[in-house]
Amino acid sequence: MKKSLVIGDLAASIPVIQGGMGVGVSLSRLAGNVAKCGGIGIISTAQIGYQEPGFDKHPIETNLKAVAKHIQRAKEIAKGGIVGVNIMVATKRYEEYVRAAVKAGADLIISGAGLPTMLPTLVEKSKTKIAPVVSTIKSASVICKLWDRKFKRCPDLVVIEGPKAGGHLGFTYEELESITQEGYEEEIKGILDVTGQYGEKYGRHIPVVIAGGIYDGEDMRHAMGLGADGVQVATRFVTTYECDASKAYKQAYLDAKREDIKIVKSPVGMPGRAIRNKFTERGVEERASSWKCHQCLERCNQKDIPYCITDALIHAVTGKLDQGLVFCGENAWRAEKLEHVSEVMEEFAQACPEV
Ligand SMILES: Cc1cc2nc3c(=O)[nH]c(=O)nc-3n(C[C@H](O)[C@H](O)[C@H](O)COP(=O)(O)O)c2cc1C
Repeated sequence: MKKSLVIGDLAASIPVIQGGMGVGVSLSRLAGNVAKCGGIGIISTAQIGYQEPGFDKHPIETNLKAVAKHIQRAKEIAKGGIVGVNIMVATKRYEEYVRAAVKAGADLIISGAGLPTMLPTLVEKSKTKIAPVVSTIKSASVICKLWDRKFKRCPDLVVIEGPKAGGHLGFTYEELESITQEGYEEEIKGILDVTGQYGEKYGRHIPVVIAGGIYDGEDMRHAMGLGADGVQVATRFVTTYECDASKAYKQAYLDAKREDIKIVKSPVGMPGRAIRNKFTERGVEERASSWKCHQCLERCNQKDIPYCITDALIHAVTGKLDQGLVFCGENAWRAEKLEHVSEVMEEFAQACPEV
């Protein structure tokens, strides 16, 4: 029998979580289809309502309504499959997004881009499972210790996101230059030790998934060989027919060569990975200097930043690539053709180790 991914009373028959991708790259269509095929589909709440009327005037209120709409839609597509959301801790009014997702019946909340210190209180008395995203032994220890001390609980799942991931990254520029594959695998083993210890304390197994650079069945087998219970995969799903991004966005992945994938400085100071294009090559002074704030990230200060990350990501996802930031993982250059989610999931199902 093939391994499944069990998170409390949730069981995914294929141990693949589709990683949340903002802005608008993983909405209900992608997440619903992954869930329908036996994986876990994750909707990103980052500016989730960008296509809705009212977004320009009241972005947060519009987003909160869209959270419920996309969870419901994804569940309809999934026909009983597992649907969760990715909510970045750095999101402005983070707590309200969490509460909206819980109210809408999200099965799982994954939170990175900061440590979700207060997440347990926000999901109290609900069935929604919670998972922090960590990149180091230190961050895994800090969050497990804090939840243990303050809330007398452990995570339902831990996502280890490595340096090959897409979007904003949990590493400094220097770390990204110096980390080797072997070195990071030592870090993974250390994080597994931490989750093992807390699992033992709470008399249960804390499942762990590895994310970042997992593109095919072979990559999945390798990750699970390190002791993970499953994988979180994002980049591979961008070039599916069901992905919620525009055709032009997917084409940028298909056209990208290895040397086109680069680390960029996001306006909010974090490093991110994106496909080199006219936008990334443009000088700061050539980028739009005035814009309306869309209330996305807590730490963003409009007067200090070179461009608006929401505008850049909306341009990308809607196909205005010359003005858009196309986030991607290190392996985006491996995309050769559009595929159906069912084909990708079948490949992972075949590669999944036996129990
Ligand atoms: C286009 C894109 C957008 C992403 N957006 C987010 C996001 O909004 N929040 C987040 O926590 N992670 C985000 N990620 C990270 C993914 O959820 C995932 O963990 C990571 O990319 C996995 O590596 P892979 O892309 O190599 O499979 C994004 C990744 C990509 C490729």
